[in-house]
Amino acid sequence: MLYLLLGLKEGCVYIKKRNILVSLDIGTNSIKAAMAEVHGQDVHLLGVSQVPSFGLRKGSIIDIESTAKSIDNSLTELERLTGIEVYGALLGFSGVSISVVNNHAVVAVANPTYEITLEDKERVLTSARNLALPLDKAIIQIIERQYIVDSYDGVKDPVGMVGSRLEAEVSIVVGAIAAIQNLQRSAQRINLNVDDLMYNALLGAESVLSPAELEMGVTLVDIGGGTTEVTYFEEGSVVQTSVLPIGGDYITKDLAIVLRTSMEEANRVKERYGVASPDMAKSDLMVNVHNIQGKDGQQVSQQVIAEIISARVIEMTEMIYAELKQFGCLNRMPGGIVLTGGAAELVGLVDIMEEYTTVPVRLGLPENMKGLPTDFNRPQNAVVLGGILYSARQGAIKHEDSQRFMGMIDRITYWFKELFR
Ligand SMILES: Nc1ncnc2c1ncn2[C@@H]1O[C@H](COP(=O)(O)OP(=O)(O)OP(=O)(O)O)[C@@H](O)[C@H]1O
Ligand SMILES: [Mg+2]
Repeated sequence: MLYLLLGLKEGCVYIKKRNILVSLDIGTNSIKAAMAEVHGQDVHLLGVSQVPSFGLRKGSIIDIESTAKSIDNSLTELERLTGIEVYGALLGFSGVSISVVNNHAVVAVANPTYEITLEDKERVLTSARNLALPLDKAIIQIIERQYIVDSYDGVKDPVGMVGSRLEAEVSIVVGAIAAIQNLQRSAQRINLNVDDLMYNALLGAESVLSPAELEMGVTLVDIGGGTTEVTYFEEGSVVQTSVLPIGGDYITKDLAIVLRTSMEEANRVKERYGVASPDMAKSDLMVNVHNIQGKDGQQVSQQVIAEIISARVIEMTEMIYAELKQFGCLNRMPGGIVLTGGAAELVGLVDIMEEYTTVPVRLGLPENMKGLPTDFNRPQNAVVLGGILYSARQGAIKHEDSQRFMGMIDRITYWFKELFR
């Protein structure tokens, strides 16, 4: 919460509360930060920054100092853009250690009148979060999928309903304690408060997926620089997820090796002239590729560039398809696949993915953010903008809750905060 000094009148200071939200996506390739101001239902984006990321490999922090410096750079840039100082942020979290466990618990309703109270809801949630986890793993998030009151399922909030038996179905996001603590330490280095920690895929879903897709069944595939998150949603919640150690950098690395050039030049060539398959390339288009010293190098046809890219694209598509098969969701997703993350911008990737998987595939832009300037309407911004939308929604829920009873959400996030003691 930020306070804005409005003016002085007869010795009185008028202060207006501003509801400012900040979200951070700490990616392998770049760190994105976004700031927005919320007025009731309206989310007004104030700025988005993006700076190169150092200190991560395949979505996990391997160097706290460099990561902290990169986060600091992104926030300094955001502060410069908006003129507002940042003290805390919601952090997106990912890495190959992430998994989702679906759990189920039952309690008897305590109240003799059988009216379900908040205490009953908390008891069933506490029981549902009781997992036997390995010592190096911890719960990051608990998502309430549904409640079942007596045998009526599909209940979103059981409090106030009447029944004798309360069941909860939850999805629990689990990650490596060390990875979470490294993120926390990086934030501590620059005195940044971690307001909330969320699994990236859930933030991406917030900005990219429609309520109908989430309800009917859809898989969100976020292809970043070093990781790919494959996440299946059904009936409005996450069901399965998996983080693969592959991403757009695989393609860049291959291009750099085969064309004997730097990663920067290979990236430029990929983003500017890359297509996912050789039959999408223009046979007469020649591209000037600088050599490793940055000097004029060689002329390479788009066809050859496409052949190098396509080998990796097929491999990545096969890996994603294998995950979907493992999830058992291929025949249960009318929403098909939604491709997001920076690498989803590769020309023709959506078509190749659709051809291979034979399910509908679309590009996932952060379009749930209303009035988004076109410059920011790119798949790589899905997570950071999803973070803003999520925070805005949580803020509204907390406000409503505080009118009714002490916020359940506070307690759920508290569980993850226990980790940082
Ligand atoms: N127009 C484009 N065509 C092809 N690839 C692109 C394009 N724009 C960006 N990319 C690729 O997207 C990748 C970066 O995506 P993103 O910003 O989502 O990654 P990240 O969040 O930093 O990493 P991760 O999520 O893996 O930790 C890079 O490999 C980059 O080359
Ligand atoms: Mg990412």
